Amino acid sequence: MSDANKIPAASAAKIIALASDHGGFEMKSRIAEVLKSGGYEVLDLGTHSADRVDYPDYGYALAEAIATGKAGRGIALCGSGIGISIAVNRNPKARAALCHDVTSTRLAREHNDANVLALGARLTGIEVALECVKVFLNTAFEGGRHAERVKKLGKC
Ligand code: RB5
Repeated sequence: MSDANKIPAASAAKIIALASDHGGFEMKSRIAEVLKSGGYEVLDLGTHSADRVDYPDYGYALAEAIATGKAGRGIALCGSGIGISIAVNRNPKARAALCHDVTSTRLAREHNDANVLALGARLTGIEVALECVKVFLNTAFEGGRHAERVKKLGKC
């Protein structure tokens, strides 16, 4: 793999949980490969094939891994990214942001302290998805005026 495609493990969240349904399986495999080559530890919660499965099962497992501290950050994928992001966000400790570009990904980190990046594998191309992953893992939360708002998100 060329250095240009590597995502170096620069952030504190070195264990990254990945989860997808069948719609995101292929993109998840590629993201896992890139993360491992960048020095991240990957906790792959499935699915492990292109056979049809239900995205809530994988979204809940990912949220649980974040909530229990088994992983610092997570990346969730399904065909659109919508179903799995809804599932992840049912856990009050998870803050999943469905992003389609690097700007929304950057804002999800800076303003919302998103701990899960959700991607729609049938809507977002792999190059953009990998850029989003890079930005997600290497952008800090701004805190300040955003901190109280984010705190309220965990109180539902
Ligand atoms: C599966 O066909 C598809 O519905 C799922 O991947 C996702 O897009 C749901 O939100």
